[in-house]
Amino acid sequence: MKTRMKFDVDTTRTSRARAALATPVALSIVAFALAAAVVLAVLAANGAVRANITRAATVALIAAVCASAAVAVIVCMSVRMSAAARSTADSTTEARRGEARMMGIIRSSMEAIITIDEAQNIVIFNPTAERIFGVTAAQALGTPLSRFIPQRFREIHARHVAQFGVTGISERQMGRQPVLFGLRANGEEFPLEASISQIREDSGKLYTVMLRDVTERVKSENALTESREELRRLSANLQHVREEEKTRIARELHDDLGQQLTALKMDLSALEHRLTQGASAREPLDPAVAGQLRGMFRMIDSTVASLRRIAADLRPVMLDDLGIVPAIEWLANDFTDRYGIAVERNIAAGDAEFTKDAATALFRIVQEALTNVARHADATAVELALHATSEHYVLRIADNGRGAEYHANANAGGDKSFGLIGVRERAYMLGGAVQIDTAQGEGFALTITFPLQAVQQEHTHP
Ligand SMILES: Nc1ncnc2c1ncn2[C@@H]1O[C@H](COP(=O)(O)OP(=O)(O)OP(=O)(O)O)[C@@H](O)[C@H]1O
Ligand SMILES: [Mg+2]
Repeated sequence: MKTRMKFDVDTTRTSRARAALATPVALSIVAFALAAAVVLAVLAANGAVRANITRAATVALIAAVCASAAVAVIVCMSVRMSAAARSTADSTTEARRGEARMMGIIRSSMEAIITIDEAQNIVIFNPTAERIFGVTAAQALGTPLSRFIPQRFREIHARHVAQFGVTGISERQMGRQPVLFGLRANGEEFPLEASISQIREDSGKLYTVMLRDVTERVKSENALTESREELRRLSANLQHVREEEKTRIARELHDDLGQQLTALKMDLSALEHRLTQGASAREPLDPAVAGQLRGMFRMIDSTVASLRRIAADLRPVMLDDLGIVPAIEWLANDFTDRYGIAVERNIAAGDAEFTKDAATALFRIVQEALTNVARHADATAVELALHATSEHYVLRIADNGRGAEYHANANAGGDKSFGLIGVRERAYMLGGAVQIDTAQGEGFALTITFPLQAVQQEHTHP
């Protein structure tokens, strides 16, 4: 399109130049022909070829040639001058048209466009800028740009523009910068996104700022962040309530039911003792009763074992009584006992004491990771490591199983998988981060990094 337009303009210019040349040439030929015709007519009219007349005719012919040449030159010059004047007028019209087009674009832009000079005074202020800032162009033109910038940002903004003038580099490009703030005429601050460009003119540099009012976008982003935070708080609270509930049930199973079963076993022992004592060589204890007693003992023992297992599954007592490291050891042993998969442990937690929340989070994360290995991995070995760096605790559970196609942002298990989401939430609550390394056939490794100060118990010195 551009090439085509340029071609059209060039063709028009060439034909105009040709026309400008053709006119004086044609005029001079006509003038010369007229002069020659007049002289020949005079000679023919006289009919005599006398010498003096011949000389006079020659002089007249030369005079006619000179006159026609002079006429041609004058005509040519005047034609050229008028062509030049016309072409100057043409290019002025073209420049005006271009300027009008440019102003039309600036005026109709959905973005506010403000151009300032080197002294940072406004020289262009488009209608969108009028609408955003609440002043007319007439009120804005010639005034300093700083009136539209909140006081606390004025200095840094002026420095930024000056630096941009020198280096030509601006880190402010729309969509790739932190939100800036503008100031409306009514004193209201609003968030905006802006980019800046510069051109050099005879009178100095001009800077053009294109900006967009992003109040609505920022509002909805804030609302989204807030609702996410709210969901996180709700989920954290639910987790907390669930943990409390599990702890309470585990304790009651262990202490209350466990003790009652122990008492039952003691009563049964006493009964057995009495029955055995009451029996004599003549009347021995009925073997059926003795068998029943042994059966009851076995049943009580297995009920106590089930009770312990259920209570420990809910929440191992050692997590609260002994701390996270023995609890993790217990989890690993239990996992090997249940599934026959070896767990290589490398736990070097130092002498750190974890907060109750941190210990619970670590325990649940290890529990979920091991359950996943049992459910999905088809692995033969697991590595479980916990160690401290100068600033973090790093927990890593890796298996040598089938791995998975896992994308950090997707929920690999679909809508019904919450295990890894829970892991992420628990890590997030402690300011930690989760990393998953896996690929088909290459095992699955879950690494969680917690900041030290978020998980360590604070000691109050006496
Ligand atoms: N160790 C692993 N080896 C292979 N794939 C795994 C492993 N751990 C997780 N995955 C994959 O990641 C998906 C998501 O795991 P996640 O724990 O979130 O859900 P889930 O175990 O399927 O269900 P649940 O909500 O009961 O935990 C799993 O469905 C599985 O495809
Ligand atoms: Mg799971």
